[in-house]
Amino acid sequence: MSGFSSHWLGLREPVDHVSRSASVQATMLDCLRQRHGVDLLGLRLLDLGSGSGSNMRALVPLLGSKQEWTLVDYDQALLDVSRQLTAQWADEILSEQADGWQVRKAGQTVSIRWLRADLNQDIEHVLVDSNPDMVTAAALFDLISPVWMARFCGALKTPFYTVLTYDGRCAWHPTHEADEDLLTAFHAHQMTDKGFGVAAGPQAAAVLAQCLQAEHFTVVRGDSAWHLSSQHRALLDLLHQGMVQAVEQTGQVSNVRLAHWLATRLNTTDCLIGHEDTLAIPPSWVPKN
Ligand SMILES: C[S@@+](CC[C@H](N)C(=O)[O-])C[C@H]1O[C@@H](n2cnc3c(N)ncnc32)[C@H](O)[C@@H]1O
Repeated sequence: MSGFSSHWLGLREPVDHVSRSASVQATMLDCLRQRHGVDLLGLRLLDLGSGSGSNMRALVPLLGSKQEWTLVDYDQALLDVSRQLTAQWADEILSEQADGWQVRKAGQTVSIRWLRADLNQDIEHVLVDSNPDMVTAAALFDLISPVWMARFCGALKTPFYTVLTYDGRCAWHPTHEADEDLLTAFHAHQMTDKGFGVAAGPQAAAVLAQCLQAEHFTVVRGDSAWHLSSQHRALLDLLHQGMVQAVEQTGQVSNVRLAHWLATRLNTTDCLIGHEDTLAIPPSWVPKN
């Protein structure tokens, strides 16, 4: 178990999909078309930390009529949920193998392979084994250490498109006197080991850009903040509960203040949670023909 519930991932999926940076996404598609042609036919995609498959569901409609995806996660329960959601999402399952399916969705043929792997151990092997045209990720890189990022960027040979990396911005309306202290403690918790060494947390997008540039990738960055309102009540409540649980572990804010903060947050009317999207284009990126 990774600690990320499929309920949480399901609540964030529609918000994640509308929050992505349109400009970074457009640049990503231009970059792929330069090399693979306007139809983007037959691309192989590798999604790191795929969870229940949200990132693939966001990207499939943008790519060509035939696609091959490898979804990698170390949490078998989330890989199983990803399979169940694929069955609901697809119009038709065309074939089923032990490790993957071929499905039809809105006229597109999508091959999906589910791979259980610990990316902290096996990233080099996963990159070689899946032989992708592009590597993708969503809501993953704030869990990752600068050391692992440098290692990953050293092994990366293709375009890389990662979205929704938390960037440290949280702003609520109405405000509460404990907002700032809570956020400081939350960031301290974020910058602990999440399985990849001490995580970069809110610095992740900046550190990632440095690591990519050190390997001579061209880096494009864009804003993908969540803009939440009372219509996102269930997501807000789970977000606030998760923050309080994390802050409790730091011991930096008293339980009385935390309880008051959480009770007040039930009345949150607006909330911004900052994220960033990153596209990296390899130095050798030239059209095939
Ligand atoms: C915040 S969730 C994001 C899931 C999905 N990308 C999405 O956008 O809904 C982070 C994901 O990374 C996975 N993960 C964390 N550490 C991992 C590791 N060392 N190896 C493989 N997957 C990992 C978790 O299991 C989880 O599915």
